[in-house]
Amino acid sequence: MKYQRIDSNLYIKNRKNFVSKMAANTLAVFNSNDIFPISADSTMPFQQHRDILHLSGVDQEESILILFPDASNEKHKEVLFLKETSELIAIWEGEKLDKKNAFEVSGIRTVYWLQDFPNIFKQIMAEANGIYLNTNEHLRANTEVETREDRFIKKVKADYPAHAIYKSAPIMHQIRAIKDPIEIEAMKRACDITKAGINRLLKFIKPGVWEHHIEAELIHEFLMNSSKGFAYTPIVASGKNACVLHYIENNKECLSGDVILLDVGAEYANYASDLTRCIPVDGRFTDRQKEVYNAVLHVKKEAEKLLVPGTMMTDYHKQVGHLMEEQLVNLKLITLSEIKNQNPDWPAYKKYFMHGTSHFIGLDTHDVGLWYEPIQAGMVFTCEPGIYIPDEGLGIRLEDDLVVQESGAPLNLMSDIPLEVEEIEEAMNTK
Ligand code: GLY
Ligand code: MN
Ligand code: MN
Repeated sequence: MKYQRIDSNLYIKNRKNFVSKMAANTLAVFNSNDIFPISADSTMPFQQHRDILHLSGVDQEESILILFPDASNEKHKEVLFLKETSELIAIWEGEKLDKKNAFEVSGIRTVYWLQDFPNIFKQIMAEANGIYLNTNEHLRANTEVETREDRFIKKVKADYPAHAIYKSAPIMHQIRAIKDPIEIEAMKRACDITKAGINRLLKFIKPGVWEHHIEAELIHEFLMNSSKGFAYTPIVASGKNACVLHYIENNKECLSGDVILLDVGAEYANYASDLTRCIPVDGRFTDRQKEVYNAVLHVKKEAEKLLVPGTMMTDYHKQVGHLMEEQLVNLKLITLSEIKNQNPDWPAYKKYFMHGTSHFIGLDTHDVGLWYEPIQAGMVFTCEPGIYIPDEGLGIRLEDDLVVQESGAPLNLMSDIPLEVEEIEEAMNTK
């Protein structure tokens, strides 16, 4: 791992939290992700499943966590299964967690090798009445690939048809939605690494640089700062490319007169940061670019004030829609009569601002969370309004990550990354 180990108290707290919401005499099982193959013998870089990570800190493939708080055997209340390692295996396969390290990482005392799983699982299942299975219930999840969790779920349902089945997902969404101070610290570190990348770019960007050269500058800065890379596929979109919301080709030359939309964020210790800044290729915005930029900035500042305890996300998105409407009328992009006659299911402002304003962020960039409950302190959201005008070859989005406070304005983890037009121009024009 490139990151410093996270305090195991976080995982101890997270398990306590999960277990407090379990039904009597049940267990919960969490599996690692697979290492996904490419072809021949090559594989994609490993990405741990965020739930086993959240509950154990184990950032390693082929790991299984069992939580069984009512186990008669004290040792089986929390059990980790890991791929066997030894000094000999380490020579071939590199360093993996041994039992002592696994305890230090997770705070879990009972660690078995993976080959012991079938036997121990059978014993535990014989004692339990029900099992929590970890299905992926992220609202936007859309995958065809069968994961290790999916395979495990199939097998359990076939082998133990008489056990009651419970869902881990709603509990995970609940406990992952509210961030611990240890998590906020890791997220702040991810944001600071992103900041280093942006500050580097403000000195690098000029007419004639290519979008992927910008990507290269960022990855250099991220790796130099102990991140393993981008938290999500970066968008480096100059000129009209900024109007393609999921533009990831990043393969065009940045031309004088264009603005580059950068939606980029570093990860740190598997925590995401998610930032968008818009930077003029020439180091100065034109008056029109400034006008659109400041309209988005105004909406962002006003929207952030709504990220306080008690706000419902659906109301929030409606209110941001009204803020945006007002700006689009001022910019002469929509008219009051278009608003008056609009389809309420697709309001007029959607022509220029067609995505959501905020999402939960944490171990996943689009993190799991409580979308239909009032906002609470400790939740972390992005705020990312935008205006996209293909006819003008201009797309502006501005995005920061914010922690909801008990009272008052949210804490902006990116408040020290240049955002105002003047700050960006000044940074670009001083050596
Ligand atoms: N970068 C993904 C997003 O802003 O939601
Ligand atoms: Mn983003
Ligand atoms: Mn985002």
